[in-house]
This record gives sequence, C-alpha cells and structure tokens, in this order.
Amino acid sequence: MAAEPAMQLIDIKKSIGKKQIIKGLTFDINPGEVFGFLGPNGAGKTTTIRMMVGLMKITEGDVLIKGDSIKSNYKDAIRHVGAIVENPEMYPFMSGWKNLLHYARMIPGITEDRIKEVVSLVGLEKPIHEKAGRYSLGMRQRLGIAQALLHRPSVLILDEPTNGLDPHGIREVRQYIRNLAEKENVAVIVSSHLLSEIEMMCDRIGIIKNGELIAIETVKALTKTEEDRIHIEAVPANRAKELIREAFQIETTIEGETVKLTAKRGEIPKIVKCLVEGEVDVFGVQVRSSTLEEKFLDVIGENAIE
Ligand SMILES: Nc1ncnc2c1ncn2[C@@H]1O[C@H](COP(=O)(O)OP(=O)(O)OP(=O)(O)O)[C@@H](O)[C@H]1O
Ligand SMILES: [Mg+2]
Repeated sequence: MAAEPAMQLIDIKKSIGKKQIIKGLTFDINPGEVFGFLGPNGAGKTTTIRMMVGLMKITEGDVLIKGDSIKSNYKDAIRHVGAIVENPEMYPFMSGWKNLLHYARMIPGITEDRIKEVVSLVGLEKPIHEKAGRYSLGMRQRLGIAQALLHRPSVLILDEPTNGLDPHGIREVRQYIRNLAEKENVAVIVSSHLLSEIEMMCDRIGIIKNGELIAIETVKALTKTEEDRIHIEAVPANRAKELIREAFQIETTIEGETVKLTAKRGEIPKIVKCLVEGEVDVFGVQVRSSTLEEKFLDVIGENAIE
C-alpha cells in the first residue's frame, strides 16, 4: 500500500477581488519526494504556497498535511511543515549556531544533537560559528532551511530557493535538497520558473499556468524518449510526405522543403531508402530528441517558460 501523502491539495481556489488567481488545484505530494512546482512569473506559485502554509486564506478547497486540514486544524497541520516563503529572519550579530539555538529554545524537545544534525544536512558546518550577518546569500538560505528543519517537519516548502544564487550555489542547493529528501524522508516542494534547474533536482514536476495545473508528471517519464523528432530536407517535400504516409503510416508536416515527423531513430535508414527509391532528393536529416523542455513547451502551447 502506498504511504499516506505528505500533503494533499484538494481543489484549492483563490480569488482576490473579482479576480480568480488560483482556479482549482488538486494534487498529492508523497513522503521523500522532491516535487517541483513550475510556472512562469505570475502563474500563482507563491499564492499557492502561501495558502499551503496558512499565510493566506483559501477561498475554496482545502490543504491536508499528513491528514490534518490547514483550514480547520491549523495547529496540527502546521506542525508538519517547514517553510521559507519570505526571507528568513536572522539575527545578524549572532552566529549561525546561536541563531539556531535561539529558535530551538522556542520548540519543545529540540536537542543540540538535532541542531548539529540540521547543520550537517545543509552543509553549513564550516561557517556555523561565524556571524550570520557576514553570510553570503547562499549561506543565509541554508541557515533558513536548517531552521525550518529543526522540528523534523514532514514537508519542507521552498519558494524559488535558487533565486539570486550563482551556478555554484544552485548546484549546492540541488545537492542538499536531494540529501534532505533521502535522509529525512521529507517531502520537499520547490517552486521555480526555470525548468532546466528544477528537472535536475526533482522526482516529479507539476506545471502551473494562469492558476491552473496543466501537467503533472515524473521526471523519469518525461525524459524517457522513445521517439525522436526527425526533420528531413527533401525535394519535392509533398512527394516525400506521400511516400512516408504510404510506407510507414506516419503523418508528417511540411515547412518549406523540410518534412517533419516523429519516429524511432532506428526507422531513419528505412525512411531515407524509401524516399530515394521513390525519386525524392534527400539533402539532409536532422534528429532532435524530444527533451523535457520541448515536451513542456508542447504542453504549454507557447514559449511561456523562462
Ligand atoms: N494581493 C494581490 N492582489 C491582487 N492580485 C494578486 C495579489 N497577489 C498576487 N496577485 C496576482 O496573482 C497572480 C499570481 O501571483 P503569484 O505571486 O502567486 O505568482 P508566482 O507564480 O509566484 O510568480 P513569480 O514567478 O513572479 O514569483 C499574479 O497575476 C499576481 O498579479
Ligand atoms: Mg512567486
């Protein structure tokens, strides 16, 4: 039997004034999975996240965190969550360690060993005794995550954790987020408007656009490419189209002298042979494997991401 979902969104909607910003989102997030919440600017990621953690009222629908409703049972629900939505609050004149100690004192049952554990989970051992005010953006963010993890949440929510980080910082975020999911079995939700970033750290991606979920899929399934997109420069193109349809029952589209189709790579020699035998001149063949990016753009229907 599958484990209980860490978090469930049940047809949540948000209206502000007359405008419906979130139009009914339903999906589950599982323990130990890194879930990417992807969408262009203004899609509704932050609004959804704010509702997930009770920072904003849900107009309709509900969010259950380990079965507890954020609406009707906020106290129990929020106990399972660690989140960084706004900039984490830090005391700049205290060390990272002292900052964590300070927060730990507000939560019952947090030992120094747990603090050490979260520091190591986010890889902050080295600078932990330096003043937080001197931390780089990436280090501040890790300290924020360490803080959010102190009470052993089942769900960790990070709104655009790679924003403002350099490529090195982004790579590090990726590593410790994976580490967290695996070692603590937390469900991590990360939002982003960059597919390239998110596909490397997530197990599953949900895409939101204009407040609607338009696709949700495992990264594995999305990257599995059985068929490639093939472009054949052929003259005359319409004769090529006919031949391919007759011999292979594959529909093609023509753009100028380029015939475009989707087929297995192994079919290419047969297709070319058939064209040449059918007296079509073949000037070139290009194979474009369908990347995740292309698939998503197909789903979205326009170049909306990035
Ligand atoms: N308080 C508000 N009043 C009216 N409209 C709002 C309010 N807050 C957000 N919106 C609108 O809701 C939509 C979604 O905004 P949201 O901040 O959730 O998007 P986002 O996906 O987080 O975008 P970004 O990638 O830029 O962070 C936008 O069109 C925004 O203008
Ligand atoms: Mg946002």
